[in-house]
Amino acid sequence: MSVAKREYKRITTKTLVDMKKNGEKIAMLTAYDYSMAKIVDNAGIDVILVGDSASNVMAGHETTLPITLDQMIYHAASVVRAVERCLVVVDLPFGSYQSDPKEALRSSIRIMKESGAHAVKLEGGKEIKESIKRILNAGIPVMGHLGLTPQSIYKFGTYTVRAKEEEEANRLISDALMLEKIGCFAVVLEKVPAVLAKKVAEQISIPVIVIGAGGDVDGQVLVIHDMIGMTHEFNPRFLRRYLNLYNDMTNAFVQYSKDVKEGDFPNEKEQY
Ligand code: KIV
Repeated sequence: MSVAKREYKRITTKTLVDMKKNGEKIAMLTAYDYSMAKIVDNAGIDVILVGDSASNVMAGHETTLPITLDQMIYHAASVVRAVERCLVVVDLPFGSYQSDPKEALRSSIRIMKESGAHAVKLEGGKEIKESIKRILNAGIPVMGHLGLTPQSIYKFGTYTVRAKEEEEANRLISDALMLEKIGCFAVVLEKVPAVLAKKVAEQISIPVIVIGAGGDVDGQVLVIHDMIGMTHEFNPRFLRRYLNLYNDMTNAFVQYSKDVKEGDFPNEKEQY
């Protein structure tokens, strides 16, 4: 089941760059476990991001900062076991790459070796240029992430739209150009004005995949728990909910509880 313009047996970093050249949009979703990844892969989604948003939606933390490298590897390995077609990209978590390029490489190697994933994603621009180069030199594909970078939430102080002012917008453009130049295969832009995202997508040859940054770009990404409505208190303007699982699951659990308590479950056919 897929609505892709052409059928790809396996999505690679090169496929994504070709998709941009051919004007074919890229659909990316997060996933953190085997069962969900299997459904996402079968549905024809192009990229699974094992995002550090797992810290929020899987572990219940307020921010993405607490999740560890070991925990990311656990999630990533579960996803990789399910996938036959998607490209699997894994976030380097906070604290696993910021101190120096050697640490960034060590963390990336652990992700690739221990999970079997296909690429890593890092938040930041020129301040992590040397780390990205070191990872790329080891043959590990890198996806950049600019704009709202949630690992820096305590620097920003808020999750509102980034790069509305000219100075920050210009910095973002030059960071995107730098990421392309040093060899990243794609860049995520999070919560920036749509006109800025469009400008970046026009200026660089690698795919620009966005969340909350409009449609004139090369692809979209959403956090899966948000798009299927398992989270229901998070309602940013950019979010389209395709299901309302919070309500559907609540109703199912209420019904199950009632059936158990009233002796309706299991019935005669549901036993040996
Ligand atoms: O961790 C994540 O889910 C992400 C996306 C929001 C892009 O980085």
